[in-house]
Amino acid sequence: MKRLSTLVRIAIVCVMVISSILVAASSAQVSTPESVPYPDGYREWMHVKSALITPQSRGFKRFGGLHNIYANAKALEGYRTGVFADGAVIVADFLETQEKDGDISEGKRRFIDVMQKDSKRFAQTGGWGFEEFSSDSKTERTLTNPTKECFQCHTTKQESGFVFSSMRK
Ligand code: HEC
Repeated sequence: MKRLSTLVRIAIVCVMVISSILVAASSAQVSTPESVPYPDGYREWMHVKSALITPQSRGFKRFGGLHNIYANAKALEGYRTGVFADGAVIVADFLETQEKDGDISEGKRRFIDVMQKDSKRFAQTGGWGFEEFSSDSKTERTLTNPTKECFQCHTTKQESGFVFSSMRK
């Protein structure tokens, strides 16, 4: 009888552990934003601009290195008109730098940051979906809270459609 009650107790503990794992998994799914797809072929899109974030910058830890920004055709139209239509995608490609004989060139990819315009799906974040893919991976997403990690800063650019960069004439 004692053995049976021990077994029952073990069973109850197992059920509790499994159900808490399931609850954690399902709540993780709820908090995950609707996904922004990997922007295949973005290096063939229009180049918007490049910038180098050096160790002297406050943003170095997070955004340090060289970054290039690319726009698909719809986003390009947005840069020109100031209005970004649904379907616009912008990619910021963050790379390490490497130096050889005084020449600085692109090093390894750190991550890519993506913004995709879909005013219905992403109504909560200015109509933009935010995503980050690690290194060269097309599947490894790094964000847990895009509103906090991305939008809260981009929201300061509301007057230009939540987009910081502009294209040089
Ligand atoms: C602390 C502020 C800040 C945070 C946080 C931030 N960004 Fe940005 N983002 C910027 C700035 C500033 C630029 C413009 C960089 C330039 O002009 O070279 C930019 C540029 C971009 C661009 C190119 C379009 C544009 O707005 O110029 C994309 C895409 C982008 N960010 C995505 C993201 C994603 C995804 C996240 C979250 C992982 C994120 N950003 C977090 C400040 C931020």
